Amino acid sequence: MLTKDQERLIEATAPVVAEHLETITSRFYPLMFSRYPEVAVLFNSAHQADGAQPRALAGAVLAYVQLRRDPARARQVLGTVVSKHVSLGIRPDQYPIVGECLMAAIGEVLGDAVTPEIADAWGALYEELAGLLIELEDHRYHEFAQRKGGWRGTRTFRIAATRQESAVIRSFVLAPVDAGPVADFAPGQYIGVRLTIDGTPVYRHYSLSASPNGESYRLSIKRESEGRVSRHLHDVLGVGDTLELLPPAGELTLVEGDAPLMLISGGVGQTPMLPLAAQALSQGREVVYLHAALDSEHHAFAGELAALKAAYPPLLTCGVAYERADAEDAEVDHVGRLDRALLARYLPAGAPHCYFVGPQGFMTAMDQALAALDVDADHRHYEHFGPSRPLDAR
Ligand SMILES: Cc1cc2nc3c(=O)[nH]c(=O)nc-3n(C[C@H](O)[C@H](O)[C@H](O)COP(=O)(O)OP(=O)(O)OC[C@H]3O[C@@H](n4cnc5c(N)ncnc54)[C@H](O)[C@@H]3O)c2cc1C
Ligand code: HEM
Repeated sequence: MLTKDQERLIEATAPVVAEHLETITSRFYPLMFSRYPEVAVLFNSAHQADGAQPRALAGAVLAYVQLRRDPARARQVLGTVVSKHVSLGIRPDQYPIVGECLMAAIGEVLGDAVTPEIADAWGALYEELAGLLIELEDHRYHEFAQRKGGWRGTRTFRIAATRQESAVIRSFVLAPVDAGPVADFAPGQYIGVRLTIDGTPVYRHYSLSASPNGESYRLSIKRESEGRVSRHLHDVLGVGDTLELLPPAGELTLVEGDAPLMLISGGVGQTPMLPLAAQALSQGREVVYLHAALDSEHHAFAGELAALKAAYPPLLTCGVAYERADAEDAEVDHVGRLDRALLARYLPAGAPHCYFVGPQGFMTAMDQALAALDVDADHRHYEHFGPSRPLDAR
């Protein structure tokens, strides 16, 4: 609990901390990784390289200065952080590590400006936020463990089947080694995967690309030419190999109600859209499914969409655009990128909820195009396949 004096000190010093956020962040991670190598493995080094994840953590502490005034909103906004943490199995005993290193980084960067009172105030703010995250995460861990087929921590799954979906995307069907039931998840959610490569544990997130079925999960993974985990999955692992899964999580889930949906994906961004489409259609909702692929070789899940279309002919409208097309691709609906004019042609009437996932540039373009088509911000839903960050237009 912060005292009034501590609140005043934090509000007074927040602008200085904000001004030095980049430097504080650039000190914080190396410090933490050298003092506590056991937590370093949880972080994706590619996310460290472009600065987005480091900024996110310290930025969230700073944003909490304002957010704490509205506790209900704080809980809602922190949902994306809680999801990322839960899918990585972050534990309460790891919070003091982050707190210690963050405070040490602030002290190093701001030097004598950080009086003991200021340090105490920021320490108390961190503890308050940590306490809230721990509570929210514990609730999720508990709820998932109680569910039929749920678990706590990691659970070992075996690759039961694989299927090449396009030139670069392969699906992996994962069944638990213990042969028990597998908990349902909310369509659109992702899961944390833990693998051991060259003796080191590595963690990644993958969207669950097939509807819940009580027996297995399906991940559909794009092989990144320089990617550590995706290449390991494509090039080294196969049917019979095992990996560990953490609980599913994620906020890109179906908004309740009967409003139509427009699901827009670029490349492997299609993975959360497939279960979302199936769920919405099963509820009798109208769905427009727009997908952008490089060309026919990179076009995954065409057969799956055709089967959905056959099952729900009046409800589902599909459109596919290839960025480049040759004679073999002549059948495709559109050639070129998805743009505002094309979205306008497909946008359903009746205040639709629009979901879009793909590369950052793609999502920014979709966000801007939908805004220009008067789709309100609270009807525009998206998720980054990496650290969350604002879209350029926002
Ligand atoms: C919520 C969520 C859902 C996701 N769903 C899916 C999904 O359904 N399917 C899917 O395929 N992916 C998905 N991802 C992405 C996935 O988690 C991985 O990021 C992806 O598979 C790449 O991992 P990797 O280990 O192969 O590549 P990494 O080794 O992490 O590298 C990624 C890229 O960064 C570059 N890079 C690596 N290290 C550095 C460095 N030090 N400096 C500069 N550049 C570097 C690499 O060259 C490569 O191009 C999702 C991510 C999130 C957060
Ligand atoms: C108050 C404390 C903390 C705050 C405010 C915080 C905030 C955040 C934020 C904002 C993100 C990015 C979320 C996103 O991309 O959507 C994140 C991701 C992450 N956090 Fe935390 N976090 C805290 C504590 C911790 C602790 C204790 C650990 C465990 C060591 C941890 C480990 C991670 C990891 C591994 C990621 C994903 C990193 C990646 O993408 O490589 N965090 N956190």
